[in-house]
Order: sequence, then structure tokens, then C-alpha cells
Amino acid sequence: MANIILLGPPGAGKGTQAKRLVEGRGMVQLSTGDMLREAKTSGSEMGRKVAAVMARGELVTDEIVIGLIQEKLTGHAGGGFIFDGFPRTLAQADALGALLAEMGQSLDAVIEMKVDDAALVARITGRYTCGGCGAVYHDQARPTKVTDVCDECDSTNMVRRADDTEDALRTRLLEYYKKTSPLIGYYHAKGALTSVDGLAEVAVVAAAISKALGAAP
Ligand code: AP5
Repeated sequence: MANIILLGPPGAGKGTQAKRLVEGRGMVQLSTGDMLREAKTSGSEMGRKVAAVMARGELVTDEIVIGLIQEKLTGHAGGGFIFDGFPRTLAQADALGALLAEMGQSLDAVIEMKVDDAALVARITGRYTCGGCGAVYHDQARPTKVTDVCDECDSTNMVRRADDTEDALRTRLLEYYKKTSPLIGYYHAKGALTSVDGLAEVAVVAAAISKALGAAP
């Protein structure tokens, strides 16, 4: 099955689209942000180390996130990976290429989700997530049908992220433009890049990604 990267700034809709690909195509979502948040919740030493860095909106070290991805890939030889929020630096991109090559896997597509900064602020400050199943909601664009009850799993545990503030978002955007946006040229040069309009409705973005990936297996 294809291996793909969803590339875009904070709030571009990477997590939202990754979940649709998991449901629609049976792919495996590998979100380094989710892995780091799990480490934080578990109270592990690494989780404690990264908590303050994440709350400020800065990037965690390459060494930590590459280690997390390596661990996850080891358990899934079959492929079909959606890399969500990884890679975020050129060093991470090189490491991913090497890890996939070791497994006899390839990178089949890099989907760049283009969204302008003004829309990102509204998206991030209105976001909340189901603590039970991870479904993503938005105060205006996608509220739960019943207030604070998850449409998918009926959980009433709705979570807002510590880094979803305007201050932290400013830092997250700076980090994106400085360290992550060079990956657009990196993957374009490899002939792997497709850009989609991330400002369109969720279903329209999903259709554009589906077109880029071709028919579901
Ligand atoms: P991470 O968890 O990866 O966050 P992010 O990249 O900032 O992206 P987000 O999860 O905020 O947004 P998204 O694009 O998934 O959007 P979503 O679908 O939720 O990283 C967090 C932190 O962890 C980093 O800052 C860093 O510290 C650390 N980290 C993680 N990976 C790392 C790495 N590789 N290296 C170093 N550090 C790392 O959508 C957002 C909102 O918009 C939702 O409310 C949604 O409902 C809504 N929405 C989505 N699509 C649409 C649409 N088409 N129209 C209208 N609304 C929409």
C-alpha cells in the first residue's frame, strides 16, 4: 500500500484528512504530534522533557521524533503509512528516506496542504478533539451535533491543546516557515509533490487528495 506524507502548517487539516484516509483506505496514521502528546500524558521522562518545548510551539529535537517514527515503523512491515506532521526538517526527511529504504518501502506521494495564515488562526483557536477516539471538531466549522458529546464514540471528554493559543501558534508558524517549508522544494525536486487547496471544505480537500493518490486498493 502507498506511503504518503501530509505536509502543511499547523491547522492545515493534516490530522482531519489523515483520519479520513484511515477510514476510507485502511491506511496507518503516524502522527508525531500525537505520539509526543501520548508521551506527555504517560508522564515518561521524554514526555516531561518535551512538554514545555511543545507548549511554546517550538520543534522537538530530530533525535526524539526520528526515534519515535523508527519504533512505530518496526511494528508495521506492510506499509500504507500516512506521515502526519513528520518530517518537519531536512534531517528528518533524510532519515525517513533511509528508514523506508531499509524496509524495502518507498515514498509514493507528498501532499502539500496550502492554507493562508489568517485562516489558520481561526482554525487553531476553535479546535477541540475527542479525548476518547481522537475525532477533531471546530467551534464554528465542525461542532459536535450535541454540545460536548462526540459524534463518533459518545465520549464527553473534549480536549483543547495547550499549544492552541495565538502566542504559541505564532511560534509554530515561524518554525514551519523556517524549518519545514524547505521540504516543499526538497520533495518537488524528487517529483513527489502534489499541492492541494487546504482552504476548501473538508470533503473537497479529501477528494483532491484521493485524486492525487489514485483509486483505493
Ligand atoms: P502537531 O500535533 O503535528 O501539530 P501541527 O503540525 O501544528 O498541526 P495541527 O495538529 O495543529 O493541525 P492539523 O494540520 O493536523 O489540523 P487539524 O486537522 O487538526 O505538532 C504539535 C507539536 O509537536 C509541534 O509544535 C512540535 O512541538 C511537536 N512536533 C510534532 N511533530 C514534530 C516533528 N516531526 N519534529 C519536531 N517536533 C514535532 O485541523 C485544525 C482545525 O481546523 C480543526 O478544528 C478542524 O476541524 C478544522 N479543519 C480542518 N480542515 C478544515 C477545512 N478543510 N475547512 C474548515 N475547517 C477545517
